[in-house]
Amino acid sequence: MSRADIGLIGLAVMGENLALNMAGKGFTVAVYNRTTDKIDRLLQGRGQGLPLVGAYSLEELAASLKKPRKVMLMVKAGQPVDNILQQLIEVLEPGDIVIDGGNSYYRDTVRRVELARSHGLRFVGAGVSGGEEGALNGPSIMPGGSDEAWPEIAPIFQSIAAHVGGEPCCQWIGPDGAGHFVKTVHNGIEYADMQLIGEAYFLMKNVLGLTNQEMKSVFEEWNAGELESYLIEITGEILGKIDEDTGEPLLELIKDAAGQKGTGKWTSQEALDLGVPAPTVVEAVMARIVSGAEEQRKIAQELFQTTMTVKDVDREEFIAAIRSALFASKICAYAQGFDIMRQASIEYGWNLKLGDLAMIWRDGCIIRAQFLHHIKEAYDNNPGLVNLLFAPYFKEAVERGEKQWRTVVSTAVELGLPLPAFSSALAYFDSLRTGQLWTNLVQAQRDYFGAHTYQRIDRPGAFHTEWQSPGEQAKSVPVEW
Ligand code: 6PG
Repeated sequence: MSRADIGLIGLAVMGENLALNMAGKGFTVAVYNRTTDKIDRLLQGRGQGLPLVGAYSLEELAASLKKPRKVMLMVKAGQPVDNILQQLIEVLEPGDIVIDGGNSYYRDTVRRVELARSHGLRFVGAGVSGGEEGALNGPSIMPGGSDEAWPEIAPIFQSIAAHVGGEPCCQWIGPDGAGHFVKTVHNGIEYADMQLIGEAYFLMKNVLGLTNQEMKSVFEEWNAGELESYLIEITGEILGKIDEDTGEPLLELIKDAAGQKGTGKWTSQEALDLGVPAPTVVEAVMARIVSGAEEQRKIAQELFQTTMTVKDVDREEFIAAIRSALFASKICAYAQGFDIMRQASIEYGWNLKLGDLAMIWRDGCIIRAQFLHHIKEAYDNNPGLVNLLFAPYFKEAVERGEKQWRTVVSTAVELGLPLPAFSSALAYFDSLRTGQLWTNLVQAQRDYFGAHTYQRIDRPGAFHTEWQSPGEQAKSVPVEW
């Protein structure tokens, strides 16, 4: 029998679906799973008739592959990846390629690329987005790592990826951890996008008292315009589901505490490390954390029973305002995500092509959306674009919705309804466009208690003041840096 084109380790849903996708495209896939009955179930079940080969040990897997061997890991991020990589180092040969398709932390990928290199192996950290369905029918794939591995794996990955206008949603992202980094930021944006949609639902429910069926129709309508995206589409579907047992809208029976696996947090940490403003992404992570603070929420609900008086709002006007606020906030969230990638690219020397990333996300992934082609367009027109908000399409869109955005946020504030992402996006926008912020005072305070020095607007250099010296007159003394 001829050897397999690629090996796949880890037959949980994502791994199994990716194997089926590859096999469906005509690649012979050798599959391995630690619990081997999963292999048999796949071969005798969904994989019947497809070019799939079972391997019952890593030695057998290695022996079944064409050289240079390509082995894709679809296992839990973290220690399991290190464990399998160690075992693979024993059975693979120089030149072979290991691809990690999980949501790994990009700094782990940087380390693994080095480790693999020291054993003559090539390592690729590939972000794979699109959930179970994407894995089966065409995900968005973000591979990065050992550059020399790309020509070897490109035919398989570009063939199984989603396609837009004939172009695969899979391109080489860059060296070392670049692929997993970009996937992480994709997820950070995903967190913000989901949070914003959540807030839109929350407003329609609590300010307007819409039923779930009514909200379903609103989301369907929104999905036909500039907000068109996978997340808006599935939100409409979710709103339409009725619980079989109780006859109630299923959504209203789900506990309001959201979990997370780490990618949103890593995006936020990276923004903090790089010094990139990304408040909406951070708020989206925090909003999940607050939602899970059950005990405190319970006490606060009893302690602070604010009576909310529902303002007299015109239903149709307010729905339109929420739509505008959602779009403007979404633009800010994407602007923050792209800014993180822009600055990481400079810091780590990755040379990320920001417009191409938008195209890779155009289909297959969770944040797939019609408006991503405007991001591509923005970077095509200006490859040095500093912030997406400054591109004509986005500038115009935000300005168009600005008044309604403010109405939505202020209405919620008056009613005591939390809108962390909508309001943080608005604060981000306002902070960027405000001429004089409050940070002159913060600098003065820092200099007062810690002699941290400050800069003046009328002279170059650093200055310090003895703030506690008596009298009103203060000396601003130049300081050598
Ligand atoms: C995707 C998703 C996927 C997964 C995340 C969700 O792009 O296909 O982002 O990677 O759903 O792990 O992360 P949380 O569990 O942290 O929400």
